[in-house]
Amino acid sequence: KKVVLAYSGGLDTSIILRWLEETYHCEVVTFTADLGQGEELEPARQKAEMMGIKEIYIEDLREEFVRDYVFPMFRANALYEGTYLLGTSIARPLIAKRQIEIAREVGADAVSHGATGKGNDQVRFELGYYACNPDIKIIAPWREWDMASRTDLINYAEKHQIPVPKDKRGESPFSQDANLLHISSEGKILEDPWQEPDYDLILARMVTPMAAPDYPTEITIDFEAGDPIAINGEAMSPATLLAKLNDLGGANGVGATDIVENRFVGMKSRGVYETPGGTVLLHARRAMESLTLDRGAAHQKDELMPRYAEMIYNGFWFAPEREMLQAAIDKASERVTGTVRLKLYKGNVIVTGRKSPNSLYDEAMVTFEEDSVYNQHDAEGFIRLNALRLRLGARLKK
Ligand code: ARG
Ligand code: SIN
Repeated sequence: KKVVLAYSGGLDTSIILRWLEETYHCEVVTFTADLGQGEELEPARQKAEMMGIKEIYIEDLREEFVRDYVFPMFRANALYEGTYLLGTSIARPLIAKRQIEIAREVGADAVSHGATGKGNDQVRFELGYYACNPDIKIIAPWREWDMASRTDLINYAEKHQIPVPKDKRGESPFSQDANLLHISSEGKILEDPWQEPDYDLILARMVTPMAAPDYPTEITIDFEAGDPIAINGEAMSPATLLAKLNDLGGANGVGATDIVENRFVGMKSRGVYETPGGTVLLHARRAMESLTLDRGAAHQKDELMPRYAEMIYNGFWFAPEREMLQAAIDKASERVTGTVRLKLYKGNVIVTGRKSPNSLYDEAMVTFEEDSVYNQHDAEGFIRLNALRLRLGARLKK
């Protein structure tokens, strides 16, 4: 028996690794993905080797992540519950898909992950696994074992010769998940929603607006068919571009949110998310759409968006309904080409200009000068017919 484990190299997944071997008498294959979390991956390899693992997969998935997951999602301007840019949610399907491919390659019959039984991530991983292999066996140690506290974990590690780093002996102040799109912080000292987050402790990729420079940074972003392709005229690969936007936004205090959200499993949870590049991109995309999308198409897209965001949040990336909406969103995105100019300033993203070869904006039309395409007399009948039912109602009231 063989199990492919989504392995970070950290203490928790190292304990899971040993626990899988002990409990299922199986061979464990580790899979560690670089999604831009900003951690070295070599230590994960060394740790896996030290724990006696023979098949170790370490892969750089940053470009695939941004090109095939983050950018398609941004075409929808997706926001869950009005604020969450879905940074963790969108990473899980890719990890799940690759894990199943590796299971096939090494002849494993099961996969395993380190998500708890209380959260969204278990759902996202496992819906992804099943969608890619309907017969896969899934082992979710957090739902099976009886270790409940940090002390239990440390004891288990010590009993099984798993080194425990000094800073992992005590409780860490919160739980984090990081990739190129965002860093999330949840739990522990953040659990009281009235308690202000300690941003100096939390923020890793950006400064607070208060600490940001007193002068703005001006940039341009070029779009082609809905996706960003260049910053300040310089063409970049998807992952390079998002990393660059993280630097630019982060330096200006853009993209931190403190929210309470509804988890798919039913509970509310409080999280602090830093998404500097994603926040800049959302504002820029919307400005690009304002010029290039027809009103009906734009409004239709906005109506679909909350449902689309919920599908991704709940883990249904590989579901037919997500693919249907994606097709509609991608169709609309074909026109979204051009350039947006922005100022980043103390947590704000200020659009200062937009232009496009596909612009539907007609200066001749809006101008108050005399023109031939728009006859102002037409507006009289337009308004009178629209007012008809309002007048009938008002007459009745009188
Ligand atoms: N609440 C966010 C979400 O559901 C972030 C989850 C973070 N996951 C983690 N394993 N720390 O998408
Ligand atoms: C977890 O429970 O593993 C993290 C939080 C979540 O998945 O929502």
